[in-house]
Amino acid sequence: MSLAGSRIVIIGGSSGIGLATAKAAASRGARVVIGGRRRERLQDAAAQIGGHVETRAIDATDEPAMEAFFRELGQFDHLTVLVPSAPDKSGSAKLVDFLEMEPGQFETVFRNRFWSQVYGVRYGAPRLSRGGSIVLMSSSQPRKTIPNYSASSAAAGAIEALARSLAMELAPIRVNVIAPGFIATPGTGHIPAERRARWDRIAESQPVKRLGTPEEIAGGILFLMENAYATATVLDIDGGYRLT
Ligand SMILES: NC(=O)c1ccc[n+]([C@@H]2O[C@H](COP(=O)([O-])OP(=O)(O)OC[C@H]3O[C@@H](n4cnc5c(N)ncnc54)[C@H](OP(=O)(O)O)[C@@H]3O)[C@@H](O)[C@H]2O)c1
Repeated sequence: MSLAGSRIVIIGGSSGIGLATAKAAASRGARVVIGGRRRERLQDAAAQIGGHVETRAIDATDEPAMEAFFRELGQFDHLTVLVPSAPDKSGSAKLVDFLEMEPGQFETVFRNRFWSQVYGVRYGAPRLSRGGSIVLMSSSQPRKTIPNYSASSAAAGAIEALARSLAMELAPIRVNVIAPGFIATPGTGHIPAERRARWDRIAESQPVKRLGTPEEIAGGILFLMENAYATATVLDIDGGYRLT
């Protein structure tokens, strides 16, 4: 299935993995819609993407806003929602031991990482074309995790379970999951020094001895959209991290 001419919605498309996906999709002739909270960031991204690109400001954790977003969008062919667990610097610094989490912090991770995707499917799926697809975002954590990631591990595991149910319920729409390892993106550029040192050790210990790039994950997302026989697939692209 060619992506040329298809309409692809990428929420979280103004940075990192989402921006790389939008660029790669546009270069294959897709019409791309990128969403994110900050208009300026979206406009900068659109200038980099080129081709046929629409920008729409959206907070994917806001259910009524997501309902309105998809109602106004009309029909499209493929969807991915790529909101990080802790999109802002302050949130990232708070990824701590489970017992030391501040009240509400676990829920915040779920609001960003899980509910944004649920809202995307709930309001996006009715507007997907037959033969269209959804790529949900997990991570390597359901297969191999490290301390301090309890909330994002749980959210990613929930997404993988959800995807299996949705692949049955939403067919012929296909529902797949991309599960990246440790990827160098603008969003991970601000992590604190001690976590950065841990990332460097992880990168060194895995078979592919480096962090991944956004483009390598974008290639996996587009593969899942293109391959008409792929559904309920979890695609790990993690440099072999899960084997270490
Ligand atoms: N990087 C990794 O190592 C890694 C590993 C596994 C999984 N992932 C997942 O991959 C996805 C992309 O991560 P990344 O590192 O590429 O992130 P990133 O560079 O920080 O980009 C995040 C994007 O999401 C948008 N965004 C943030 N909060 C949003 C919200 N509430 N509503 C709508 N858009 C929002 C941002 O734009 P605004 O800030 O303007 O909203 C931006 O476009 C995330 O789901 C992340 O959990 C990443």
